[in-house]
Amino acid sequence: MPFTIAIDGPAAAGKGTISKAVAAHFGFAHLDTGLLYRAVGRRMLAGDAPIDAAQSLTQEDLERDDLRTPEVAQAASKVAVISEVRAALLDFQRAFARRADGAVLDGRDIGTVICPEAEAKLFVTASAEIRAQRRFAELAPQGLASNLDEVLADVRARDERDMNRADAPLKPAKDAVIIDTSTLDIAEAVAAAITAVDARR
Ligand code: C5P
Repeated sequence: MPFTIAIDGPAAAGKGTISKAVAAHFGFAHLDTGLLYRAVGRRMLAGDAPIDAAQSLTQEDLERDDLRTPEVAQAASKVAVISEVRAALLDFQRAFARRADGAVLDGRDIGTVICPEAEAKLFVTASAEIRAQRRFAELAPQGLASNLDEVLADVRARDERDMNRADAPLKPAKDAVIIDTSTLDIAEAVAAAITAVDARR
């Protein structure tokens, strides 16, 4: 039976970690939809037109190891405002959501646009400062960030673009359970997510 868990929220709120753990707990497949936009953003930085890139994304584009940089994150949120880019990525995400064996999708518009019929919807959030601290701790050891203030400015710029675009802006679905991870550790955040999903099963 298809069962879709939609997990949305702003950058670095903990969606990725929670989504992986929730998918493992229920034995569901997981799709990080941000990777699709990052792959399109990376191709734009390499000189491709964003709409062409979205319409011709390959598995190889998605498996590159340079999609997690701050530059690619910003490029992703720029291509994500283009309706034709979003439209080109829609069918793939919807087909994944309705797989027979259950699916977890995380992103910005899963519960609102991609899969409004999802059986369980979560909106994972945290303060911008906490999210920037977490992202900095992740990027600094890889040499991808040297300054917390810059990471905070990047997080805020991306929030602003993601929340204020005309097409599929970042916002909780009306029936989403909000999980604020600002004061939760990973185990507590995952437990809260599993409890919310269990309530819908
Ligand atoms: O989740 P992640 O940080 O990898 O997403 C990168 C960017 O892709 C986001 O800032 C957002 O602009 C865009 N995105 C989106 N819709 C999604 C997933 C990501 O617009 N479902």
